[in-house]
Amino acid sequence: MKSNSPDPNILVWFRGDYCRLADANVNILTHALHYGTGVFEGIRAYWNHTEQDLFLVRAEEHFARWKRNCGILRIQIPESPYELARIAAEVCRRNEFRTDVYLRPLAWKASPRLGVQPDDVDATTIIAIPFGAYLPSENGIHAGVVSWRRIEDNAIPGRAKICGAYVNSALAGDEARRNGFDEAIFLTEDGHVAEGSACNLFLVRNGKLCTPPTTDNILEGITRDCVMTLARRELGLDVVERSLDRSELYICEELFFTGTAVELAPITRVDHRPVGEGTVGPIAARLRALYHDAVRGELAAYTHWVDPVFHPVSAGLSVR
Ligand SMILES: Cc1ncc(COP(=O)(O)O)c(C=O)c1O
Repeated sequence: MKSNSPDPNILVWFRGDYCRLADANVNILTHALHYGTGVFEGIRAYWNHTEQDLFLVRAEEHFARWKRNCGILRIQIPESPYELARIAAEVCRRNEFRTDVYLRPLAWKASPRLGVQPDDVDATTIIAIPFGAYLPSENGIHAGVVSWRRIEDNAIPGRAKICGAYVNSALAGDEARRNGFDEAIFLTEDGHVAEGSACNLFLVRNGKLCTPPTTDNILEGITRDCVMTLARRELGLDVVERSLDRSELYICEELFFTGTAVELAPITRVDHRPVGEGTVGPIAARLRALYHDAVRGELAAYTHWVDPVFHPVSAGLSVR
């Protein structure tokens, strides 16, 4: 995720209050900095010019996942997912963002001391920055299976977005890019396909849409859920959650990644082999278009997925 360093004057929510990014600093001895004991989230908000509004995508579900995952590290967040979603909207409003935005909630073990044992001193922040495409994938990308295996649930749970666990993703992403690929594909310890370094993976075989189950050391992606719902409801596709063999990557009709940052990224080449015809497949193209419209509040059946930031009530989109 190569984003230009954000304007230090943007306003963030930091330790329970709003302040400038430049004033939101931590002690160099912070526990999480040394031991990776933090939990983060990634949420997008999309600017809709016609509606003149910014739409937060499934914010409450992201914050519910964040709180659940923080519980794994015994990090307490007093606010409810509903309240956190309101704070996220307020961060966007105070910055007057009228462009696509990426939000990064982060909670961490904040004690300024050495010693791996975490204590109960927790801190939180919600940062929002203008953000466009993560992985330019209009015409498809080239993904490669990496030599690093996906972390095991019994070591560090991949479903928990724990800061320290992203060393695994950083190693994979670095290897993939140095080997000329746009993104990495992880295998699990037992050799099944898991996911990308920061995205879930889908393939199409015999017209069925297949994706690894959540018990294969993957993050329970919210975009994954969006795409499975759109595939079933809008395209009438069979969606199957099952373990995938590596060789299925080389014989499938279509292959793509999903994630808040990558959105839906078609994979047209894998390990130096074309996927299908080597072009963006019809199913990926249609799901990408449906997802694009849904997250901008333009699909009536999916307005419950978005929260308008500037006209929270008048838009009448919020179902609460
Ligand atoms: C390892 C990993 N897998 C999958 C995803 C996609 O999850 P979501 O769709 O909820 O953003 C992410 C998102 O950041 C991720 O880090």
